[in-house]
Amino acid sequence: MKFFVDTADTKDITELVTTGLLDGVTTNPSLIHKAGRNFLDVVREICGIVDGPVSAEVVALDHLTMMREADVLRKIADNVCVKVPLTVDGLKTCKALTHEGTQVNVTLCFSPNQALLAAKAGATFISPFVGRLDDNGFDGMQLISDIRLIYDNYGFETEILVASVRHPVHVLESAKIGADVMTAPPSVIKALFNHVLTDKGIAGFLADWEKTGQKIV
Ligand code: E4P
Repeated sequence: MKFFVDTADTKDITELVTTGLLDGVTTNPSLIHKAGRNFLDVVREICGIVDGPVSAEVVALDHLTMMREADVLRKIADNVCVKVPLTVDGLKTCKALTHEGTQVNVTLCFSPNQALLAAKAGATFISPFVGRLDDNGFDGMQLISDIRLIYDNYGFETEILVASVRHPVHVLESAKIGADVMTAPPSVIKALFNHVLTDKGIAGFLADWEKTGQKIV
């Protein structure tokens, strides 16, 4: 499973790149607002830090303006993946951009039928928002299972990008279901490394090693 980080904070991205485990980045207008920087500048900087896809979202609601915005975004760098909302105009834009060889991430997916439409429109990625579904009393992970089943039934190549990830259990369940990608905030990715028994084990080994009086280097 590929790991994307869901942030527009370039410090966090730079730190995660050093782990060698980061495969891409997703941003959205709210994350750009949080970063407090110029959208195009941030996307350009992120594309220079990460080799993988960097999702940058259009904000227009009509197809023609979405295409004009996408044109600006995809010129920033080869690894820009244009993010469009799951609407009729968003999917028209998806189809046109895919036809032109641009990577597209269809965002704000909340149902299996929406995911089916995005795959038919040739999306590179579909982003089902599991956390927001859970927050509203639905079963976010069930949506991932349903999309996996549908995409496998028909051999769709659209990658399932699990989004709105809130905690490590979402990551675990995504991997068990066979999602292609998950995008999570830096805090959730960092939490994946942690286990109390790992910390306890290291402390115990180091205490005993100290008693040997030896050094490796
Ligand atoms: C995905 O691309 C979105 O940016 C993101 O995962 C939204 O997550 P949220 O529900 O935590 O805002």
